[in-house]
Amino acid sequence: MKVSGLTAALLLGATGALASATPKVGKVSYDGYKAYRIATSGKDAAAIKDKLASFAAVQFNFDTQEHLDVAIAPEEVSAFEALSLPTTIMSEDLGAEIATEGNFGVYEKNVSTSAAVPSLTWFDAYHAYADHITFFNDLAASFPQNSEIFTVGSSFQGRSIFGIHLWGSGGKGSKPAVYFHGTVHAREWITAKVVEYITYKLLVDYSTDTAVKAILDKYDFYILPFVNPDGFVYTQSTNRLWRKNRQTRSGASCVGTDVNRNWPYKWELTGGASTNPCDETYKGAAAGDTPENKALTNFTLSLANSKGIKLYIDWHSYGQYILTPYGYNCQARPANQARQNALAQGLANKIREKYGTRFTYGPACSTLYATTGDSTDYITDVAKAEFAWTIELRPGGSSSGNNGFVLPAAQILPSSVEQWEGMKYLLANV
Ligand SMILES: *[C@@H]1O[C@H](CO)[C@@H](O)[C@H](O)[C@H]1NC(C)=O
Ligand SMILES: *[C@@H]1O[C@H](CO)[C@@H](O)[C@H](O)[C@H]1NC(C)=O
Ligand SMILES: [Zn+2]
Repeated sequence: MKVSGLTAALLLGATGALASATPKVGKVSYDGYKAYRIATSGKDAAAIKDKLASFAAVQFNFDTQEHLDVAIAPEEVSAFEALSLPTTIMSEDLGAEIATEGNFGVYEKNVSTSAAVPSLTWFDAYHAYADHITFFNDLAASFPQNSEIFTVGSSFQGRSIFGIHLWGSGGKGSKPAVYFHGTVHAREWITAKVVEYITYKLLVDYSTDTAVKAILDKYDFYILPFVNPDGFVYTQSTNRLWRKNRQTRSGASCVGTDVNRNWPYKWELTGGASTNPCDETYKGAAAGDTPENKALTNFTLSLANSKGIKLYIDWHSYGQYILTPYGYNCQARPANQARQNALAQGLANKIREKYGTRFTYGPACSTLYATTGDSTDYITDVAKAEFAWTIELRPGGSSSGNNGFVLPAAQILPSSVEQWEGMKYLLANV
């Protein structure tokens, strides 16, 4: 989610107060929380935010021109409904949906293949972090001629930030890079599943599908499914709606920096991130000062300086957007803007062809919101990628059960398949 300029008061339920007031052993409970989409009628939502300031509400989105998505604690539901705001219900009980989502799948291999290929049942449920690591290790072990696991450095808590490198007939490291990041925002669980599906299809179909073979013979893929592993683990152990990393800082009582506001490019501008450590979009004390950004920047430059970056995608949820540069300025456009736009439109069309899912496309700042220190601006202007995009996955609309970050497990496979169809188009045409 693109997030910016939020008030700390709105976030007490999601992060600071509630999380720190809860004993470490327990999970933050969202039982009985009701999620609403409030129509803002094309206006800035400031007046509505003022009305909500006294609520312990969890705010999901900050591109509030069209709508404001919030979760309301059970004891405040009647006071909220008494405001008579124009709402639709996104979730009747967020806690119940988190509990359902938390019925993790059991990791299985495909028994009909001799290699250790993971079973497609992987895409029927969400999984524990340790199983995600097994998934990648097994895939790489099954396709040693086309893949290997690598690491780019360590997170604040010392977890390795790993990726899988895929290559085709030219041999390892011989072609321009296609570069993916997943799960920079910890609560955006669908992103790891989608990049896992794309990885799986590239490797499994390479030997039988000529279109897939052509793609993998043309590019080296560097896929990092969890660039914020500490945050992801924390969403599974403690607070499902955690977004940032888990970095502590002397003098700050709140934990976490937004890794996608900390990249060392246009970081110093105001208006696209927060300087308050308690906010969800906290940019850090200095450009690039999180361990995650240090490792990612270093690796990005090593890719840029070898074969170059053809395409970078930062996978996020939610809202169904394809966002081209730039985030830091709503008027700035890259030199190849016309190609960016044509390809983003083609990608949106291809995604929609499969199941009718609509993605909005356009330059990030003017389409959604200003962001500073984000990965796509850095990778466009500093790492000189030809294309560097943000894709915000499902859900888009506000029908009940499409409650933002907690996308029902039944939508993992269709979300993945429509993106795979889109990527086949994009990689053949980029
Ligand atoms: C197992 O692999 C076979 C052969 O590649 C494939 O057709 C089948 O769909 C796979 N099944 C599962 C459950 O992954
Ligand atoms: C930076 O990247 C290079 C090459 O990829 C690697 O050898 C080095 O260890 C990295 N340094 C840090 C601090 O991560
Ligand atoms: Zn995000």
